[in-house]
Amino acid sequence: MKPKFICRSPGKKSVKIIQRDSKVISPSLTREYSFVFKRSKGCYIWDVDGRKYLDFSASVAVMGAGHTNPVVSKAIAAQSRLGYHCGFSDFYAELPVQFVEQLVTFLPKHLNTAFLSNSGTEAIEAAYKLARWHTNKKWAVAFKPAFHGRTMGSLSLTNSKAVHKNRFGPFMPVKHAPYPYCYRCPSGKDKHNTCSNLYLSELEKIMRQCKDNLAAVFLEPIAGEGGYIVPPKGFVKGVRELCDKYDALLCDDEVQAGCYRTGKFLAIENFGVKPDIVSLSKAIGGGIPLGATVANKKIMDWVPGTHANTFGGNLLACAAGIATLKYMRRKRLGENAARMGKLMMKRLHEIKEAHEIVGDVRGLGLMIGVEIVKDKESKRYGIGERNQILCKASEKGLLLLPAGTSTIRICPPLVLTKTQALQGMDILEDAIREVSQ
Ligand SMILES: Cc1ncc(COP(=O)(O)O)c(C=O)c1O
Repeated sequence: MKPKFICRSPGKKSVKIIQRDSKVISPSLTREYSFVFKRSKGCYIWDVDGRKYLDFSASVAVMGAGHTNPVVSKAIAAQSRLGYHCGFSDFYAELPVQFVEQLVTFLPKHLNTAFLSNSGTEAIEAAYKLARWHTNKKWAVAFKPAFHGRTMGSLSLTNSKAVHKNRFGPFMPVKHAPYPYCYRCPSGKDKHNTCSNLYLSELEKIMRQCKDNLAAVFLEPIAGEGGYIVPPKGFVKGVRELCDKYDALLCDDEVQAGCYRTGKFLAIENFGVKPDIVSLSKAIGGGIPLGATVANKKIMDWVPGTHANTFGGNLLACAAGIATLKYMRRKRLGENAARMGKLMMKRLHEIKEAHEIVGDVRGLGLMIGVEIVKDKESKRYGIGERNQILCKASEKGLLLLPAGTSTIRICPPLVLTKTQALQGMDILEDAIREVSQ
């Protein structure tokens, strides 16, 4: 299958690899560009034909600590001389323990026990199974749009694009409530209180349908794949209150928004809300597959054999995770994300004012969405325009990703400098200007 956006002709070496790829790799992957990776450093990546890009995708929000971080590389190399894997579900080792001891120092105090895995979907599966085990209840509520992963449990919670779910049912018992989208609120008012109340009442109706059999509500504190949508503060607080009212656990999916991307270590901290179970992955391993599901010890009360895996607690992953967390704290990447995010939002609001096709600009820290529309008045989705902007930007050396229907996703590595942030904004505005003409 061809990449979705062939922006500029790929170089000779890229073409050859893409041809080989099409023969042996599953066609189910969503390739956005004909970009073929060669190497990376900090906020830059190079393709096999030597083209350099400023990376505003962080390899899908993974490379928060920067590409090929030397501190992480050193930790992996050191551990590789001692052993890669210890069979942590059958034996003991210090490194996974050290990783979790360190991880919990980044989290609210009540989150003190972790199950380790290798990916976001596994971190969600563990949260889902744990919620069902602990409550011994059947139903879960998630949102539309939501993306929680693609294995059968997490896919049951996911509800962002039809292609993810078509032909894969039947699913687990999950109901979906609408996610607050103030820019397109059915009330017609882009007012946070009105929007929040409207969506909370929809959510409560759905929670009530689960009778006394609701185990958990799964929430992305910022909808990621669904379009980088930031809910109103009152909504997230209201979800917590409804969970308490209906005796359900609040499961917080921090796979994309977590690890300082929004300024705070957990995105949900921006809303002053305490979750019961947290799922982390992506940036936490510094680029090595690592997932963690964290809860209070009283909630994580499942018994031996109820849940385990082969690779959770993998030594190379834990060494990378420890180094990544230490680096993030030492370099104050949360503060940098907040600072760079502010700078970029200011510039993006100016860009929005200047261009009719920029409908909405939203985000927290370095998790920013720019929604492209046909025109500000109609707010009709500018899907083609968004895709063209992504192409033009990549031709100019800036790598971005789409999210939602017509949104540009901006999620650079958190080590981003002011110069890089402004350079990226200049390229993006040039691309928007060219597409507007
Ligand atoms: C919020 C969220 N949850 C879960 C996942 C699934 O993670 P993975 O692709 O590592 O399975 C993703 C992936 O994009 C995500 O963004």
